[in-house]
Amino acid sequence: MKLGVLGTGMVGLAISNRLAELGHEAMIGTREPSKSGDKLKSRSDAVKVGTFSESAAFGQIIFNATNGAFSLDALRLAGKS
Ligand SMILES: NC(=O)c1ccc[n+]([C@@H]2O[C@H](COP(=O)([O-])OP(=O)(O)OC[C@H]3O[C@@H](n4cnc5c(N)ncnc54)[C@H](OP(=O)(O)O)[C@@H]3O)[C@@H](O)[C@H]2O)c1
Repeated sequence: MKLGVLGTGMVGLAISNRLAELGHEAMIGTREPSKSGDKLKSRSDAVKVGTFSESAAFGQIIFNATNGAFSLDALRLAGKS
């Protein structure tokens, strides 16, 4: 199954790494993929990285693991194609 995981914090990373471990295709979403290197140090190589909208478009199911104070902003970005 293809899954989108919005959020590059410890929750998003733990979920996406585990999904990949279980054999799913996971794409983690962030505002700026090109600037997320350090944040994603513990990302499995099997986990793809994209923008919030790319991750949302990729997933058949979407996990929202963004900071609660900014979740609506992140979801607005995710909704843009
Ligand atoms: N950490 C825990 O132990 C824990 C436990 C229980 C529940 N939670 C909840 O799980 C969720 C994720 O927690 P977390 O610690 O993994 O991550 P987090 O640090 O709370 O959130 C990181 C994510 O929020 C996004 N974000 C931050 N500011 C933003 C803004 N202005 N606009 C859009 N997006 C923004 C970041 O985007 P970028 O990638 O672009 O930086 C990043 O993807 C939170 O709601 C938290 O309360 C966390």
